[in-house]
Amino acid sequence: MKWYDKISGFYDFFTERIYRNERNELFEKLELKKGDSVLLVACGTGISFQPILKRIRKEGRIVGIDSSPKMLEIANNKIKKNKWTNIELINANAELINSELIESQMGEKIEFDFVIAELAFSVIPDWKASMRKSIKLLKKNGKIGVLDGFREQNDWINRILNFLPKSDISRNVSEYLNELTTNYWSKRLGKTGILFIGIGEKTTANKVYKK
Ligand SMILES: C[S@@+](CC[C@H](N)C(=O)[O-])C[C@H]1O[C@@H](n2cnc3c(N)ncnc32)[C@H](O)[C@@H]1O
Repeated sequence: MKWYDKISGFYDFFTERIYRNERNELFEKLELKKGDSVLLVACGTGISFQPILKRIRKEGRIVGIDSSPKMLEIANNKIKKNKWTNIELINANAELINSELIESQMGEKIEFDFVIAELAFSVIPDWKASMRKSIKLLKKNGKIGVLDGFREQNDWINRILNFLPKSDISRNVSEYLNELTTNYWSKRLGKTGILFIGIGEKTTANKVYKK
């Protein structure tokens, strides 16, 4: 059993409150609105379903992808409990996401208004491929918003911080997102400045997503 399958039962208890303000700041800044479609990369237990739905309403749509069946089981329970009808889940590796995968799972081609990846690219092994491929699924001028951690030094502090989430916060997610998008904006959050949010628009220079 993989790590996130093992910790899925405790995940919400330990993380829901810690990142609540940061998540909301990201959603505010993204200016999500009624009817928007959102691809939620590494959606986990669906902690963000409710705050996103509050903004995109029942006219919008969320497609969540995650590789952990147990994290998705919890996400699915939330969907059932709340009778949400506009959230779909895909159990797959986000490094391989593309329009064919979406079409085969959803039964239709979808281009998204937003890609949102919270605490995702510091965890997904081939995070650069996942980021490029997710951005390709955006509509023209669609936006990607990221919440993650970054601390360059790969020392014992990072090893402790990386231990529970099995993440690697020495990855410069923000820098790479800046390379791949236009009108990039980012902000460091909190007292430690380790967390950040970053938002960029899909560029029309398609070659950057091809690597
Ligand atoms: C720190 S959790 C973040 C979950 C959620 N985004 C949140 O903010 O609460 C990281 C998530 O990444 C998922 N994950 C790790 N590698 C993945 C991959 N290659 N493809 C899809 N999901 C992956 C894990 O299963 C886990 O749900």
